[in-house]
Amino acid sequence: MGILTNLILDYWLYGVTIAFGYILAILLYDTKNDKNRAGVAKNDETDERYAFPDSTSDAKDKEEADGGLNLENADTRVDHEAGKEHIPFTIERLSKAEMTRRSQEFYQEMNKRRSVRFFSDEPFPQEVMDNIIRTGGTSPSGAHTQPWTYVVVKSPEIKKEIREIIEEEEEVNYRRRMGDKWVQDLACIGTDWNKPYLEIAPYLVIVLKQSYGIAPDGSRLVHYYNEISTSISVGLVLAAIQEAGLVTLTSTPLNAGPRLRKLLNRPINEKVMLLLPVGYPAPDATVPALKRKPLEEFMTAI
Ligand SMILES: Cc1cc2nc3c(=O)[nH]c(=O)nc-3n(C[C@H](O)[C@H](O)[C@H](O)COP(=O)(O)O)c2cc1C
Repeated sequence: MGILTNLILDYWLYGVTIAFGYILAILLYDTKNDKNRAGVAKNDETDERYAFPDSTSDAKDKEEADGGLNLENADTRVDHEAGKEHIPFTIERLSKAEMTRRSQEFYQEMNKRRSVRFFSDEPFPQEVMDNIIRTGGTSPSGAHTQPWTYVVVKSPEIKKEIREIIEEEEEVNYRRRMGDKWVQDLACIGTDWNKPYLEIAPYLVIVLKQSYGIAPDGSRLVHYYNEISTSISVGLVLAAIQEAGLVTLTSTPLNAGPRLRKLLNRPINEKVMLLLPVGYPAPDATVPALKRKPLEEFMTAI
């Protein structure tokens, strides 16, 4: 007892100092987290503002700038249940001749794809549209988060509203926001802010990326590489459109994203990336006479 009393008397100052330091560390840590939380809330408020020329250049939106890997502001949970079980996997083995033939045919079909800006209003079956979007759903995605939403619009009223929003924003884009160089670069393609095809094409597909997921308890889930994953998914959709004998125009509704998201009643974690009108080309459709780079110019074999 005497030894313990002596120890306390000799070292009480050290004990008090350590306890004080511990309390200070906790206080400092909490303040830093509050600041981070405030940052998240602020991002939520500014989420709607798409920076010009595109949303990825918005330094405020770190989640996009780092390819969706914002682990700081998001909950790092992913669905670990999916993929726990492994199942056998095999593919059909093709002869060398057969794989050569098929790869050549596929390339030739894809090489016929063009961005078309003149559409026919001739309808095609909804089932075809469903299969095209289904194909997009086969895409790989970061940690299998499948961070895409496809809104397929058939309603003439909604198509009209979409056209109004896009033409309004595009006129400002062309007149004020894009600058001379950009407008000149687009001159050869022959585009301007008038987009009648938005009402003519039987379907408009609006592609949104889910910047993050929302868990049932309302917390955020990380959607790794959400923009890259959605872009790959869209690539498959473009191929499926071509394969179905239809055409589309890969278009970016610049600065119209937030208004479109609201019109389509999509949640705040989704951002409009692309708009794809889908249908048959108009009988008198034309496309710019563009040339594609030969393989040697964009592939090196080592
Ligand atoms: C990411 C991306 C955005 C595009 N945005 C537009 C657009 O907003 N408006 C448009 O008329 N074309 C747009 N295009 C289509 C390109 O102009 C077209 O792909 C390019 O001129 C090559 O023509 P092709 O698709 O017929 O091969 C876009 C294409 C891509 C890949």
